[in-house]
Amino acid sequence: MKRLFVKTYGCQMNVYDSARMADLLAPLGYAATEGPEDADMVILNTCHIREKAAEKVYSELGKLRKLKESKARSGGGMLIAVAGCVAQAEGEEIIARQSAVDLVVGPQSYHRLPEMIAKVTRAGGQALETDFPAEDKFDALPQQNSNAGPCAFLTVQEGCDKFCTFCVVPYTRGSEFSRPVAQILKEARHLADLGAREITLLGQNVNAYGGEGTDGESWSLAALLHALSRVEGIERLRYTTSHPRDMSEELIAAHGEIEKLMPYLHLPVQSGSDAVLNAMNRQHTADEYRRIMDRVRNARPDIAISSDFIVGFPGETDEDFEATMSLVREVGYAQAFSFKYSRRPGTPASTARKQIPEDVKSARLEALQALLVSQQQRFNKSCEGRTLPVLFEKPGRKPGQAVGRSPYLQPVHVDGAEQLLGEIHAVRIADVLPNSLRGSLVSAKNREAALTL
Ligand code: 5AD
Ligand code: SF4
Repeated sequence: MKRLFVKTYGCQMNVYDSARMADLLAPLGYAATEGPEDADMVILNTCHIREKAAEKVYSELGKLRKLKESKARSGGGMLIAVAGCVAQAEGEEIIARQSAVDLVVGPQSYHRLPEMIAKVTRAGGQALETDFPAEDKFDALPQQNSNAGPCAFLTVQEGCDKFCTFCVVPYTRGSEFSRPVAQILKEARHLADLGAREITLLGQNVNAYGGEGTDGESWSLAALLHALSRVEGIERLRYTTSHPRDMSEELIAAHGEIEKLMPYLHLPVQSGSDAVLNAMNRQHTADEYRRIMDRVRNARPDIAISSDFIVGFPGETDEDFEATMSLVREVGYAQAFSFKYSRRPGTPASTARKQIPEDVKSARLEALQALLVSQQQRFNKSCEGRTLPVLFEKPGRKPGQAVGRSPYLQPVHVDGAEQLLGEIHAVRIADVLPNSLRGSLVSAKNREAALTL
């Protein structure tokens, strides 16, 4: 038996891809291990979205090179592979800079890993695969095993055709592609058999989903969600990440119609200023986004709203930034991610003249994050005293404790619930901690009443 260590950076699609790579290598005799020290093969599944994320890869490779050399001195060996978006964007450079790297494989070609491993172990040298191959990667992958557990991810869509001027995704993940419905339903049923109770549908632009339906027509994400809501064993559905332009009436309505669709929406807006949105090529205005929020809240009044924000985009003035703060105050977020603009090679905004100084970016980020944190706390506080259905996902830090998720995606810690992993139970929320909630199980007689929100 050989040992495989996969280190995952970045988004949930990478988490999904890492699990699929582990499944792909299992028939070659690779079993998962917890660290690189005892690994025969290490895969870094990388993220290129911001400079910091990409830099981490090179420092990690430096450490792995030393480990590989010390293994070689004692007669051992270790294959090093770089996968993911840094591999796609900087494949040639990685090969040139790091001779310790054996394999570089992009996100669209990792199903070819077994052949690549065979090639380098047989003939030596380095292998690079960063094509967008014609064959369907998903057809070539084995059934899932590693992505088990109560909360599973399922990639339904990949790539992006939007070309926001700050973003590398259209270059690293290629153009939009949607998997056929039948393939997705099959995978969902298999995940349910493995114990999944919740499935999060993944895509860089998941709400632009338009895969071939079971009737041969192109199906929307809403239609796909309706079909998935009928898969036995799956109790909860989520999807991420979305673009405002693709927030159709049908999808908004689905939030009021599909009970299994959790009341949570991650809909990145990036900025509240029309000038910045335009320079970002987001293809919508701040008011259009506000109207979407109103309609979503009409369909599902308790929905928790989340977003991504970028501060310090080239040309962003104090007024532009203030427009973002106003939008945040108006919308009221349950949760959000915010970032300083990071120049990415090859993207149009990276060469814009009016780059914003680092100290201005930092001050804006600090102000925005303070506001977002206070909104998150307010949202969490509003759950205090409520009874929420919680899907228990994993053991907590304390003995007997379990951690699950509320419908609003908040982590919830409950003592004495360890035996309930994989199940949904009613929990009374007692305390609000900075990043999570704490609650206690509701007695059996109240459970039924409490389980519907
Ligand atoms: N700089 C900063 N943040 C970025 N994001 C994407 N590209 C950049 C960049 N160049 C952020 C966006 C996106 C999230 C996944 O990452 O907010 O929604
Ligand atoms: Fe990047 Fe914009 Fe596409 Fe999102 S929609 S992946 S931010 S280009």
